[in-house]
Amino acid sequence: MLGNFIYSNPTKLYFGDDSLKYLANELKNYGKKVMLTYGGGSIKKNGIYDEVIKILKDSGKEVFEVPGVMSNPTVEKLYEGCKVAKENDIDLILAVGGGSVIDYAKAVSVSAHCESDPWEKYYLHMEEPDNKIIPVGCVLTMVGTGSEMNGGSVITNHEQKLKIGHVFGDNVMPKFSILNPQYTLTVPKYQMTAGFFDIMSHIMEQYFSNTDDNTSDYIAEGLMKSLIHSSRIAAKDPQDYEARSNIMWTATWALNTLIAMGKSTDWEVHMIGQAIGAYTDATHGMTLSAVSLPYYRYIMSSGLAKFKRFAINVWGVEANGKTDEEIASSGLDEMEKWMNEIGVVMNITELGVKEDMLDGIADATFLLNGGYKTLTKQEVIEILKKSM
Ligand code: NZQ
Ligand code: ZN
Repeated sequence: MLGNFIYSNPTKLYFGDDSLKYLANELKNYGKKVMLTYGGGSIKKNGIYDEVIKILKDSGKEVFEVPGVMSNPTVEKLYEGCKVAKENDIDLILAVGGGSVIDYAKAVSVSAHCESDPWEKYYLHMEEPDNKIIPVGCVLTMVGTGSEMNGGSVITNHEQKLKIGHVFGDNVMPKFSILNPQYTLTVPKYQMTAGFFDIMSHIMEQYFSNTDDNTSDYIAEGLMKSLIHSSRIAAKDPQDYEARSNIMWTATWALNTLIAMGKSTDWEVHMIGQAIGAYTDATHGMTLSAVSLPYYRYIMSSGLAKFKRFAINVWGVEANGKTDEEIASSGLDEMEKWMNEIGVVMNITELGVKEDMLDGIADATFLLNGGYKTLTKQEVIEILKKSM
């Protein structure tokens, strides 16, 4: 490990099928006014809403609901939540849902008391909050983003055709998150599978950078192996609690800052995926799966030693008698088999991308330099064409 860093993560986690019982105790730490935010209604169908409302009422809280947070939350929805939070002087934002709802809660948290336009301040200009931040707590219902233990908050502006994430600091990360694997068992298979690939992508984005020997990479390999193992089980039987429970825990550690320590990290797949999301509103994890193989095959020669290590340590590729290129390629071939096995989307055409969007998507893709190769706009277009 050659990098220097400061590490802290303030989010308190409650994990397990009895974890909601700890909510009442957490609520004691905050004032009376709670903004309860959630998605399009899944929590009403599976009963989580009723359980949470009961605890809030029994705790004497005044509840202000902001329902209808869509996947890929929009800037217009952000303004709506800010109004509710500011006008009612909210003490705690309780997010009950997946990454979209939690990202949204963080965006409202920093924006409600912001004097200027939050989209411009936090997303276009990447400024840090200098106003009151409303604390956020979570009850996680869908696994993938890691939003439950990180500072990430992704907002989409359809008018400007931009989907941008801001990674806020410790002061914006959830104060607590309740992780009950049982809650994830009602997630539709398409969303579940997208979440699995999102986890894999988060780990790869951090793993495929730098050349020094770093403990973070060994942890990343362990997380990938656990994910591959459990996702195969869950793809066959989504109701397998043990597999879903392991995946929930893996997702949290895949993107809670730990495995990025001492690393520059890549994130180019996410940049391309977010640009596709801005144009198509497609499911996040599928935007990543659809471009990952063409991207990694394109950059493989620039980070050959790491791709060889990935093939051997993560996919168990037999190295004997093969060149480094052959070993590295076999690793990506194994990954392709796994992707087909769990059933992720393998091309961007299926997500609604048309040939005439490619130039715009490439323009909306931020080009980063933390990975093994810094792309040009033309190279992004080439990768998109290979992903069609
Ligand atoms: O809206 P409802 O009705 O609740 O349905 C949701 C939604 O349709 C459904 N769902 C969630 N839990 C369920 C359930 N359905 C049945 N039973 C349950 N228990 O699942 C659908 C997807 O939910 P969503 O929250 O949109 O998914 P996800 O967790 O993948 O979040 C995606 C958002 O997170 C951002 C993405 O860009 C996207 O906007 N990301 C956030 C990151 C972060 N904070 O660090 C990093 C990621 O890379 C990602 O960019
Ligand atoms: Zn992601």
